[in-house]
Amino acid sequence: MKKAIIIGATSGIGKELAKLLVENNYKVGVTGRRFEILKELKNENPSTYFPKTIDVTDTKISVEKLEELTTELGGLELLIISSGTGDLNVKLDFEIEKRAIETNVTGFTCVADWAFNYFEKQNSGHLVSISSVGGLRGSRGGPAYSASKAYQINYLEGLRQKAFKMNSQITVTDIRPGFVDTAMAKGEGLFWVSSVEKASKQIFNAIKKKKKIVYVTKRWKLIAIILKYIPRQIYDLI
Ligand SMILES: NC(=O)c1ccc[n+]([C@@H]2O[C@H](COP(=O)([O-])OP(=O)(O)OC[C@H]3O[C@@H](n4cnc5c(N)ncnc54)[C@H](OP(=O)(O)O)[C@@H]3O)[C@@H](O)[C@H]2O)c1
Repeated sequence: MKKAIIIGATSGIGKELAKLLVENNYKVGVTGRRFEILKELKNENPSTYFPKTIDVTDTKISVEKLEELTTELGGLELLIISSGTGDLNVKLDFEIEKRAIETNVTGFTCVADWAFNYFEKQNSGHLVSISSVGGLRGSRGGPAYSASKAYQINYLEGLRQKAFKMNSQITVTDIRPGFVDTAMAKGEGLFWVSSVEKASKQIFNAIKKKKKIVYVTKRWKLIAIILKYIPRQIYDLI
């Protein structure tokens, strides 16, 4: 069986991807802060789910737990970072911004670096992270969220370039969802909201094909192009 770890497998996209991996003959290390949910997964399928409580904001413990989990799995071929937090923050409450930075920047970097270094030692492996279409431009509704996703997009590009220059067999995939119907999708004016099942299937197919950058659902690529070219003067009015 192939071995994978999902960071943030207690709900939403991460939880659905865990199911898809198990259906496709993976042993899956499932992680998150809510151990009760991880335990439920383990009870569903004890031989394929390997639960471990990980809070990515606690970077020292996260690394120790990743090491333990990889030993329990007997190796690692695929690591998916689906952990994330993003609250609307119209009043610019710094605690909300701080939580996004600690989870989506510091925690993300810790896990991505650990995975990359692990894969470098075995000269192969696949790092997948869920960034967002929201990382392509700034956002008045959640400035830290969109900035943290821009950070992830650039960081993953850096790792991809590093893997290429090292001539290694490491693949880095950046998944950029639009709206997906999870606890994360908040606020007014949501459109093209995908079900978790549909989005996760598209993500799983992209993983199988070892794609580099993927928009989920596919039509969000159109929004990405518009966001890229829309002039700042017009963007400011939105
Ligand atoms: N839904 C959307 O519309 C959308 C759009 C674009 C991008 N995304 C991205 O997709 C990813 C998955 O989100 P989702 O939509 O599936 O939302 P979700 O259901 O809220 O899932 C978020 C996951 O992140 C985990 N998490 C949060 N803080 C954590 C921490 N400190 N340490 C470890 N795990 C943590 C949560 O687990 P615990 O609470 O158990 O720790 C949960 O499993 C996120 O990165 C999000 O930014 C989502």
